[in-house]
Amino acid sequence: MNKSEAKAEIERLSNDLNRHNHLYYVESNPEISDYDFDMLLKQLQELEEKFPEFASDHSPTKRIGGDITKKFEAVVHKYAMLSLSNSYSKDEIEEWTARAKKLVEDELEYVCELKYDGVAIGIQYVDGKLVQAVTRGDGTQGENVTSNVKTIRSIPLTLTNDFPQDFEIRGEIFFPLKNFLALNEKRREEGDPEFANPRNTASGTLKMQDSKVVAERGLDCFLYGIYGAENRAEGHFELVNKAADWGFKVPPAKKRYIEKTNSVEGVMDFINYWDEKRKDLPFEIDGVVIKVNNYDQQEILGFTAKSPRWAIAYKFKAERVETILEEVTYQVGRTGSITPVANLTPVQLGGTTVKRASLHNADQIEKLDLHLGDTVFVEKGGEIIPKIVGVNLDARTSANPGVNFIHECPECSTQLVRREGEANHYCPNELGCPPQVKGRIDHFISRKAMNIDGLGTETVDALFEAGYVKNFADLYDLTFDQVVDLERMADKSANNLIDGVKASKEIPFERVLFGLGIRFVGETVAKKLAKAFKNIDELAKADFDTLIAVDEIGDKIAMSIQAFFLEERNLTIVSRLMEHGLKMEIVEKEGSSNKFEGSSFVVSGVFETFSRNDLKALIESNGGKNVGSISSKTSYVVAGDKMGPSKLKKATDLGVAILSEQDFIQLLNE
Ligand code: IVH
Repeated sequence: MNKSEAKAEIERLSNDLNRHNHLYYVESNPEISDYDFDMLLKQLQELEEKFPEFASDHSPTKRIGGDITKKFEAVVHKYAMLSLSNSYSKDEIEEWTARAKKLVEDELEYVCELKYDGVAIGIQYVDGKLVQAVTRGDGTQGENVTSNVKTIRSIPLTLTNDFPQDFEIRGEIFFPLKNFLALNEKRREEGDPEFANPRNTASGTLKMQDSKVVAERGLDCFLYGIYGAENRAEGHFELVNKAADWGFKVPPAKKRYIEKTNSVEGVMDFINYWDEKRKDLPFEIDGVVIKVNNYDQQEILGFTAKSPRWAIAYKFKAERVETILEEVTYQVGRTGSITPVANLTPVQLGGTTVKRASLHNADQIEKLDLHLGDTVFVEKGGEIIPKIVGVNLDARTSANPGVNFIHECPECSTQLVRREGEANHYCPNELGCPPQVKGRIDHFISRKAMNIDGLGTETVDALFEAGYVKNFADLYDLTFDQVVDLERMADKSANNLIDGVKASKEIPFERVLFGLGIRFVGETVAKKLAKAFKNIDELAKADFDTLIAVDEIGDKIAMSIQAFFLEERNLTIVSRLMEHGLKMEIVEKEGSSNKFEGSSFVVSGVFETFSRNDLKALIESNGGKNVGSISSKTSYVVAGDKMGPSKLKKATDLGVAILSEQDFIQLLNE
């Protein structure tokens, strides 16, 4: 390919990818499968590597991240980033509308919007290209987080149609709840402390140095204001809708995320609707925002020092109750991380009884200035998890002693440590601290790792107490007599356990590797490592550069792997597992391939040639992924006999390809 051909091809691929990205992330209506999308992206990446002179700053390849920002440069906002005045009662809203009407001396139209609970961002576009994205900061000056913002798929890098030449668009970057919960689940699995709430996590994510990590986390953005293009429409509502033509994800009126009304009743109806329905949203909001629509009227109303007079926020009352802080206890995780927990006098909140609330870490206790016996305020707002938001100081007496964070591990009395830059305290006694030792065994036997039949947390506890098992390699030396000797253990259960342990020797290498519990090596990373190094010896030998050369393996993971294999006792455990016959290398199964890589399958119904499990195994051994339910992201549904009609309809509605058993066999043999 010569230069001018390459240039044209890069342009063609970029346009294609931009269009498909928009169809997927903004319109939720994709035309091609994830796999095909990834293939196009890969083609573009390769071409850009060969012809870097044509790799633009706005290429769709920027979505993957990779740029590192060591220090976020300060940028002065062209238009100050003000905040909104808050109100908590409908009377205040009514007063606000009356005041505005009087000042304008005319009737008003209002735009009602959701108040997204995330972080504000201002994004500048020049000649249809995203040139800069800046956080709110102190309102006058924020931080340049452009590389990170470029990874957010619903934010266009280049615009379409009749866009203004130079303008700024503002919106809220937030963590969709599904992605937030998935991130915490992954952190739990990898032994990292969980994040407290989506908003702070969105904010922290936006300021991460490595844009690749930002790309993986799946932030999203809704847009709510446009500056420097007011001449394009009479009012805010109309302009926001125009921005959809330029390629932006704007709140859908169909779902009532945004609404125009000319009456106070209309505003109240919007507020009431969302006060009730906000719990069903896939992201958190903390209220609604009401704006005067017409730009001329906005100008008449103007600003106070801090906020516009043409807009007001109505904040939902988070449900809040008072109760007594009885005790603070401390949990020790598998990696030794210490989580303080508030034990409360049970109290009803949002339909459930709340007895405990996480306090996250020592800083949180200090910030709240908690004393034992305090009357504390507990809230469950849009949030899922109850939290202590403050102390009723009027109810505090001198008899309430301050909560002092523990210095010693509650389980093994070892002096706790707090590593530099980390929020959590840790118990360093990895070998002797029971919850750490048992936690590693629990992790090893868990469903996604060795999935040992007949063995659960309680039995691990009993085996540990009896002194039979001190690490997971010991499981393979267990005898029937030892097991049956445990309390409440019948012959049958004991046999079951022994058989389960034996059967686990057939578990594939990547799951054994995940089970080892190397810090930061979760299920996906374990799969990547297994595929790259093929066996444990190669992995143990790999130097830092070889490790980070593997896709998705960064410095942190590489260092953790090296640290693991430097420990003599880990090597002993691994070699004992090997002697017991566990799989320490990948077995290239006959008929395995990468042909389904990037595709996801939903298998449903009954089949003639295969059992459902065989079929799923075939999909995986050919690089595909099995998922439970059909979404627009699903590549194929393999439909057997007796597949439910609702599933079939969903697949058809979403345009997901439906394969019969024969179609599948054909695809496999192609
Ligand atoms: S309009 C002049 N609209 O709330 C202020 N803000 O306290 C213009 N927010 O910093 C802001 N949803 O981050 C506006 N639909 C919405 C919003 C919204 C969330 C945030 C925004 C702002 C804060 C105001």
